[in-house]
Amino acid sequence: MTDFGIKLLQWYHVNKRSLPWRSVNDPYKVWLSEIILQQTQVVQGLAYYERFVQEFPDVHSLAKASEEKVLKLWQGLGYYSRARNLHATARSIRTELNGIFPSTYKDILKLKGIGPYTAAAISSFCFGEPRAAIDGNVYRFISRLKGIHTPIDTTEGKKEFALMAEVLLNKNEPGDHNQAMIEYGALVCKPANPMCNECIFNNDCIAFSQRTVPELPAKSKK
Ligand code: ADE
Repeated sequence: MTDFGIKLLQWYHVNKRSLPWRSVNDPYKVWLSEIILQQTQVVQGLAYYERFVQEFPDVHSLAKASEEKVLKLWQGLGYYSRARNLHATARSIRTELNGIFPSTYKDILKLKGIGPYTAAAISSFCFGEPRAAIDGNVYRFISRLKGIHTPIDTTEGKKEFALMAEVLLNKNEPGDHNQAMIEYGALVCKPANPMCNECIFNNDCIAFSQRTVPELPAKSKK
């Protein structure tokens, strides 16, 4: 493992927030949490996650529910296509996969509404598959640490960041590593007012040494 990976995990074990989806390895619950967190802040998402899990503890109960009931529970979160996809996918898991959530990145990626980030998150958190999960937090953290100015919303950028994330990935503990990357971006390498003076990587951070932290990550569309 790289020095970076060791340092990051040490930081994570001391500083991580205790979040309900981190203490489970049920792919259904992790899926649900990741869909909720796609366009929603953790603080707001928490209550919705708890209510969903209470009402629909597994794929079967979600698949059995009416769409009306699912949308009602989603009320306030916005982006209702997320809820419709969630429900439709639960139904297809029930009818086409015998109710068993797929357990590999490739099979998870085939599900409707699940892209590379969510498939990597579920397969690494729940099944220990070494896949780098790159969400907005991770793009920001890597772009600054490595001083990458390629726009993250381009094909070229996505490739470059995927490659770098793969190099950094701790293949022995991919789940905790991915959670730690997300957490570092959320708590230290923040979009506004990043905590560069307290950052344990500031000696290695290219953007910090080049004073380009506020410019990163770069985006092509304004
Ligand atoms: N944002 C997206 N996924 C997350 C996770 N698993 N933990 C905390 N914040 C997140």
